[in-house]
Amino acid sequence: MTVSRLLVTCPLPDAVIDRAVKEFGATLSQDGTMGAQDVLSRLAEYPVEAVLLSSRTKMDAAAIAALPPAVKILATCSVGYDHVDVAAAALRGIAVTNTPEVLTDATADLTMMLILCACRRAAEYYAIMQAGWRHRHQLNEMLGVQVSGKTLGIFGMGRIGRAVAQRARGFAMKVVYTDVRRLPVELEQGAVYYPSLYAMLPHCDILTLHAPGGSLTDNVLDAKAIAQLPKGAVVVNAARGQLIDEEALIEALGSGHLAAAGLDVYRREPDFDLRLRDLKNVFLTPHMGSATQETRNAMGMRALDNVAAALGSRRPIDQVAPMAGSSQAAGP
Ligand code: GLV
Repeated sequence: MTVSRLLVTCPLPDAVIDRAVKEFGATLSQDGTMGAQDVLSRLAEYPVEAVLLSSRTKMDAAAIAALPPAVKILATCSVGYDHVDVAAAALRGIAVTNTPEVLTDATADLTMMLILCACRRAAEYYAIMQAGWRHRHQLNEMLGVQVSGKTLGIFGMGRIGRAVAQRARGFAMKVVYTDVRRLPVELEQGAVYYPSLYAMLPHCDILTLHAPGGSLTDNVLDAKAIAQLPKGAVVVNAARGQLIDEEALIEALGSGHLAAAGLDVYRREPDFDLRLRDLKNVFLTPHMGSATQETRNAMGMRALDNVAAALGSRRPIDQVAPMAGSSQAAGP
């Protein structure tokens, strides 16, 4: 029997689990996703060198300090890594890796779904059909916001932001963006750069967020920022719930300042603020940006590639550093 070198803390597609077991004799989570305390208890019993986790397991500085000395890598099966205190891990010589690139297309696809469904009142149309319809709408009823030809503002023009821009161009949208710095022209593909969120907001018919979570972006879309959007704008978020002040969002959706929102992520998950559900002009999905068979397989395999590198004493391709300027960079 292979000695176990890896703890897998969450259910994953079969092909990924097969490889984890064959290659690393993986110990598996029995019932759903393990919390940090479960991970620590399991490791106290069976210390292993690698832990494969998802964004649902928060490994803060205290949890990382309590990891047994055998642990060499925390491989998260997600592009975001705001749930892991990378600086605390670095202090202990533990590598942290994520799974970028492989989920870009799936997340950008879902973002387009949120844009289209929020603008075209998909939640309300679906509810009408579920209720049996039976009442023909007049030509001035149940009208949505046209997507084609509108200006899409992208906050965070990394891989996912750029993949959304590519799709938006197919809808004849004008793309504007902001990020910490301007992209090289060949990556911009005609998108117009604004040096700050505040400079960009008044130009956005639809705003989509694609920045990482963390202290630098916490509540970046607050009441003051939302007020800078034109009346009737639409807000979409498939990045992290922490980017939005949900009180301010709910207020703006209720007052009509915002026409609609499309959300995949929330400040609290899964126990999200039910006032969002009760608003008619919000289209909601349960944090599913990367949730396709193909992408979840690819993410799991990529996380295992990172584990293989660390256990083979090579630098994993996706090793991340503490986020610059974040509380992570300041250490635990
Ligand atoms: C999902 O939220 C991810 O970061 O991959």
